[in-house]
Amino acid sequence: MGGTIVLVTDRPDRSAALAAALREVGPCEVVGTEESWTSGGFLLGVVSDLTLTRPEAAGCLRRLERRYRGQALPVIGLLRRASTESLRLAKTLGATVCLPAYVPPETVATALVNQIENTVPVGERAVVHGVARAGEALASLLDEARAGSQIRMETVEAGLAPILTAVQEGGLARWLDTVWSHDDATYQHCLLVAGLAAQFALHLRFRWDDQQRFVRAALVHDVGKARIPLPILNKPGRLDPDETAVMRTHAALGYEILRAGGECDAFTLDVVRHHHEMIDGSGYPDGLSGDAVSDPVRLLTICDIYAALTERRAYKTPMRMADAMAVLQGMDGKLEAGLVQSFGRALA
Ligand SMILES: [Fe+2]
Ligand SMILES: [Fe+2]
Repeated sequence: MGGTIVLVTDRPDRSAALAAALREVGPCEVVGTEESWTSGGFLLGVVSDLTLTRPEAAGCLRRLERRYRGQALPVIGLLRRASTESLRLAKTLGATVCLPAYVPPETVATALVNQIENTVPVGERAVVHGVARAGEALASLLDEARAGSQIRMETVEAGLAPILTAVQEGGLARWLDTVWSHDDATYQHCLLVAGLAAQFALHLRFRWDDQQRFVRAALVHDVGKARIPLPILNKPGRLDPDETAVMRTHAALGYEILRAGGECDAFTLDVVRHHHEMIDGSGYPDGLSGDAVSDPVRLLTICDIYAALTERRAYKTPMRMADAMAVLQGMDGKLEAGLVQSFGRALA
């Protein structure tokens, strides 16, 4: 989730201490010289612990350099030989800073932090941080819901300010790009809705506590999906009528899960239960219509549908953002047209 640090090494037997130090900075993956750098996701930085004169090591770093050309990617080159020639080679292969391979792991980690701060723009860092914190909050929430244990709203709280800061400082486009690379459908969806809700709340100039309230409801709105069987939840393509009926229970299930926890506010409970209600009464689970559909529900429903239309799944081509807006505009009568227009302006 979020930014990963990659330690690329040709001596994995000696990488444990270095990987442990890098994990103090962020999630760290240890790979060998066969790494192709095509697996997607945002890289926070790379540490290369390689004998650079070996063709496979040079080939691996050249692929990295090609893949991230033009992007701010800190690459720490650990040099096994202190010579001008190896320094030159490391720089040619994309190292943004070089250190002797014998320096303590903590020194490498500190150098990486400095490099990230110097080379990764503040907005990008805010998004990486926001996606990571929101992802952790969501993971705890879904785990608790799945296990049937009591939901602690405290775990959700830690994700809220980072989402708003990320969208404010890094921009919605960056948030969406980062989240779209997540391959778990429920995570991707909930983080998309949370980012869209943050943008909508900022655009509507909500007060800070109202922004938090709305983003909280967005982050947890589909918590009921934790109790939907995975073959239905993650089914590629359309659900049959029986499966749809099961899937639709998630709204009331989510409400029950949060209500049973005893810590959830009425605003969030309303949004969780009713985020599939439509103003014309055609929604579920309660078939509410007109004024019975509250303003927060009307706002979140727009974010939710837009997120579902634009989500990235392996088996389908994503809908373009302009086409998704056109779908929302075509739902006049079900959604409040004025709010759809306002949402369009928030995305512009
Ligand atoms: Fe839902
Ligand atoms: Fe949803």
